[in-house]
Amino acid sequence: MSQSEADLDTLVEHLKRNRGFDFTGYKRASLERRVAKRMQGLNMATFAEYLDHLEVHPEEFVILFNTILINVTAFFRDPSTWDVVAGTIIPELLARHQPGLPIRVWSAGCASGEEAYTLAMLFAEAMGAEPFREHVKIYATDVDEEALGKARQAAYTEREIEGVPPELLEKYFERVDGRFVFQKDIRRQVIFGRHDLIQDAPISRVDLLTCRNTLMYFNAETQARILSRLQFALNDNGVLVLGRAETLMTHANAFTPLDVKRRISRRLPTNAPSRRERLIQLAQAPVDDTRPKDIGLPLRTAALDAVPTAQILVDAAGTLALANERARSLFGLGATDIGSPIQDLKISYRPVELRGAIETVMADGKPVVFRDVEWSFAGDPRWFEVHVSPLIDVTGVPLGASVAFHDVTVAKRLHGQLEHSNQELETAYEELQSTNEELETTNEELQSTVEELETTNEELQSTNEELETMNEELQSTNEELQTMNDEIRLRSDDLNHANAFLESILESLSGAVVVIDTELMVLVWNDGASELWGLREGEVRGKNILGLDIGLQIEQLKAPIRACLNGTHAQAIVPLDAVNRRGRAVRCIVTVTPLKTRSQSILGAILLMEAEQSVASDGDGNGNGDGSRFSHQAAPPATKKR
Ligand SMILES: C[S@@+](CC[C@H](N)C(=O)[O-])C[C@H]1O[C@@H](n2cnc3c(N)ncnc32)[C@H](O)[C@@H]1O
Repeated sequence: MSQSEADLDTLVEHLKRNRGFDFTGYKRASLERRVAKRMQGLNMATFAEYLDHLEVHPEEFVILFNTILINVTAFFRDPSTWDVVAGTIIPELLARHQPGLPIRVWSAGCASGEEAYTLAMLFAEAMGAEPFREHVKIYATDVDEEALGKARQAAYTEREIEGVPPELLEKYFERVDGRFVFQKDIRRQVIFGRHDLIQDAPISRVDLLTCRNTLMYFNAETQARILSRLQFALNDNGVLVLGRAETLMTHANAFTPLDVKRRISRRLPTNAPSRRERLIQLAQAPVDDTRPKDIGLPLRTAALDAVPTAQILVDAAGTLALANERARSLFGLGATDIGSPIQDLKISYRPVELRGAIETVMADGKPVVFRDVEWSFAGDPRWFEVHVSPLIDVTGVPLGASVAFHDVTVAKRLHGQLEHSNQELETAYEELQSTNEELETTNEELQSTVEELETTNEELQSTNEELETMNEELQSTNEELQTMNDEIRLRSDDLNHANAFLESILESLSGAVVVIDTELMVLVWNDGASELWGLREGEVRGKNILGLDIGLQIEQLKAPIRACLNGTHAQAIVPLDAVNRRGRAVRCIVTVTPLKTRSQSILGAILLMEAEQSVASDGDGNGNGDGSRFSHQAAPPATKKR
């Protein structure tokens, strides 16, 4: 055994031990090819390498399983077989059917269900839909769960239903989302289940069993084992349909052929004689009994001498009474031997032990036959069939025994040659059969590869189409984004423009302008504010106005600001004494106005601060506020109620 064969054995053993699936009964060459196919897909060169991969990737088992089990099938596959099933087998079965009993059909190795649904359509056509639903059960089994899943869905593509005649397609299928779905009512009578033909007990009391294009994947020994189970499954007179490359092999005796070409056979009833038994019965059929007429002794002696069969007669006392010419020459018997006790003569034990047989024959009155007795005559080996028969007179009194030596040498030699030729023929037939099966499996593998390629092609095409659509979608999204971008850019320009415009307004105002939000955080602080209070915008933006350290008692503004923010005042004018950034006392008029949107919701407040000459003179009389006293006492605010 080569290393590669040993590795494949180890792999098969691994699958058996770890996955409970036994591939040892499958044809080796096919198995090897299928595993190698999968390995090729993974870029692996040896079975050992693949086994390592299997051990690490348990999900690989399903893929391998799918590669090994070839699910090629079709509706009405091999149409002439279905013509016979529809035209002869089903009508006969229905004619024999006993009312009250179900009609049980089994599609073994049903793959994706096409064969089972073909059977359903034929039975429904023959019986009518209602009686079909009432009486027929179709069991459809396979070891491949995935194929069974597809079968249960009963939805097929346009290509898959090609074999269905148009009128049946119209009647039994419904088009749903581009698929052809088998009619539910009829579908219900088809029961799918996982069943391993090698290991599981067969379904029983089956009237019609189809096991097509499945046996051929197994080696001869496994095929014989499966056939025994199928034979057991069938009722007496049940019908078995095999694939066109499959035969009954060793089980031919249990079946009688109905259509040899289409491999359709009927199981013989259990108590019916086998073919061999029937042949024996035929050979032993009674023939006309033409009894010899009473003729004179010399005539009888002469007649006895004339026959080419050696014959001796022994009387009731055990004495050699007569030996014909052929016996005398063959066994060297002389005239002196006549009248001698038979046990004293060589012929009594050579070429075959006759003494006991003669005694038995005389005692029981029943003949004894010795077959294949060899005797060399003049150095030439010859074979005899020795018949020891009782001789009884007309009144039933035993007279003695006749020993006839029928020379079967020619027949024996012919038989030997025939057997040899037969064996050669059988070997040639087996080789032919196995070549035929091999061709069929290769054909199925090819078909499956073609289907796989077609599927891959379709998948590629669909992936391509998907990519195309994705590309188009991306292109359109891109265009949308570009438009949005343009819009954003335009808006941004507008905003910049508006901002610049606002900024220039703010900066053009002579007073200080401060804008705060509803949380009192500074949003805008214009140059006027920086000029007045000495803080730059960067120092105050985002800070609470009440916390700013400037020469203004901002606390005094808290109430008017709140009043504007909560909408109770439309404006508040608050005069406050303050100190500007140069430390001079100023009188500051703060006008607080709410900041509103167009819809009048309040976003914050605008504080306009205008500094005037301080009320308290600093004494230098120039009135510019330098050195003036600063009063922190705020004047009461002037407010406008809403
Ligand atoms: C080529 S398909 C035949 C389908 C259908 N009978 C036909 O002739 O169109 C062979 C089927 O036998 C199934 N098979 C292989 N080994 C099996 C086993 N041990 N027990 C049951 N089915 C098996 C496979 O799964 C596959 O579906």
